[in-house]
Amino acid sequence: LYSVEQKDFLHISDFDKDTIMKILDRAAEVKALLKSGDRTFQPFKGKTMAMIFTKPSMRTRVSFETGFFLLGGHAIYLGPDDIQMGKREETRDIARVLSRYNDIIMARVFAHQDILDLAKYASVPVVNGLTDYNHPCQIMADALTIAEHVRLEGPRSIVYVGDGNNIVHSWLLLAAVVPLHFVCACPEGFEPHRETVEKAIAAGISIEITHDVAGAVRGADVVYSDVWASMGQKEEAATRKHKFQGFQVNEVLMELAGPNAFFMHCLPAERGVEVTDGVMEAPNSIVFPQAENRMHAQNAIMLHLFGL
Ligand code: CP
Ligand code: NVA
Repeated sequence: LYSVEQKDFLHISDFDKDTIMKILDRAAEVKALLKSGDRTFQPFKGKTMAMIFTKPSMRTRVSFETGFFLLGGHAIYLGPDDIQMGKREETRDIARVLSRYNDIIMARVFAHQDILDLAKYASVPVVNGLTDYNHPCQIMADALTIAEHVRLEGPRSIVYVGDGNNIVHSWLLLAAVVPLHFVCACPEGFEPHRETVEKAIAAGISIEITHDVAGAVRGADVVYSDVWASMGQKEEAATRKHKFQGFQVNEVLMELAGPNAFFMHCLPAERGVEVTDGVMEAPNSIVFPQAENRMHAQNAIMLHLFGL
């Protein structure tokens, strides 16, 4: 059915447009079913998922665990102190042992190589729950949210304001598959990886990396923000705060974007730093429907990986 069969969900660009759109359609379908209160759809019955976290999490942990349970399965949380990947035991050993107990592995790690190693040695599907490089489940949820509020395909612009980080890389990798106009307005020295930008450009889509935040947000359909210091960079928070002056999404910036612009943030947000309280609470802020969609997007991703 699908042009490329992938065992794992590591990068959005590992899939073709048709597959990504089918996963998003499925997410909407299963979301509607779950929201209707129907609990009879139990495709994960008898399945277990191991969830490895080497970083903190609220949304990823709860949305995966709840989503897997609601569809009939059982999820096991392995926190930073439990298996101590790479310290207590080598990643390749963990991958092979967990594959013998579980039907699927989800992992949130620091180095991107760790998720690649897990996928290489696991005999079951591995889902990327964020690495220092990317966050594909988040951007699938974001795409679902945009499709619900604006429309995903066609001319529209998603303007990200802040650090050229893991969120930006996943946006670029989505844009490499589903044509959309993506703009990243970041301070100098905080641009996304050149190779990832080039990959998106090579796919023929319109990408802009700019330092002019005011120019970038004008007429945006979505203004998107994330923390200035990601997990693992918290000791840089003070210097980053200084360097990111002018990149706060506030009422003035949203005014420039125009009355039709939605505000999105992957959360957790630091109110008063990268975004103001007023922007977070404004009627056009869709951060909570966006967070909710994590569960629905991930359920559909796992259904796809299981061939269900
Ligand atoms: N957006 C997101 O991944 O949130 P958590 O870090 O809480 O999982
Ligand atoms: N860029 C952030 C995203 C958190 C969901 C981080 O990596 O900490």
